[in-house]
Amino acid sequence: MSEERERQVKSRQRVTEHGEVFTNLREVRAMLDLVKPETERMDSRFLEPACGDGNFLSEILRRKLAVCGQRARGKAYTQLQYEQAAILALSSIYGIELLADNVAACRARLLGIFVEQYVALYGKSHRAGCVTSATYLLSKNIIHGNALTYHRVDAPEQWIEVSEWSMIGNGMVNRRDYDFKYMVDRSFFSDQPVATYQPVYFLNLNAQAYGEE
Ligand SMILES: C[S@@+](CC[C@H](N)C(=O)[O-])C[C@H]1O[C@@H](n2cnc3c(N)ncnc32)[C@H](O)[C@@H]1O
Repeated sequence: MSEERERQVKSRQRVTEHGEVFTNLREVRAMLDLVKPETERMDSRFLEPACGDGNFLSEILRRKLAVCGQRARGKAYTQLQYEQAAILALSSIYGIELLADNVAACRARLLGIFVEQYVALYGKSHRAGCVTSATYLLSKNIIHGNALTYHRVDAPEQWIEVSEWSMIGNGMVNRRDYDFKYMVDRSFFSDQPVATYQPVYFLNLNAQAYGEE
């Protein structure tokens, strides 16, 4: 097997059973260039229903963060403004994936990209709350689920729910959860959220803030 092919395929069995063939970076970039302005806008939402370990999502995050990093380095953003823009960028990226190891790898990869740029910009003055919020968002947005049956894999009796995060001013974040099957299947369609929450400050996004522990 060529090196390129090896990076795209983990095993023959996984290809046969799950169609797991990863897209290489050149193709990812060419496809994202077709929607370039959207990949550079912090609040444009992307949902990939078979995200693997995040080849597309990581490039989308890199592009969004490159824009806010540039603004921070040019002093157009304060640290707080950078943090808010970076959290907004991350909160707009979603994936659904069948295999647990890919889910874990995707979350870790996106967090690594987020933290690397954040720490490179702000070093010791980086805030733990910002990293906790990013970690929490990834735990919600990268979903261990089956995009064809609309069920979660980690809780098979539950439908997949997708959280919509919106900045509503003063750093407050509004969260509304929608049923994935209502979003994608015309026979189910509804634009009503299945859950709504009190706004939470963007540096305090965590399970406790949403009464989940
Ligand atoms: C062809 S790979 C593509 C991965 C990634 N999108 C990329 O381009 O590198 C397909 C991925 O979809 C996952 N998958 C297969 N069936 C799925 C399903 N019903 N729901 C969610 N993910 C699924 C596989 O585990 C695999 O990681």
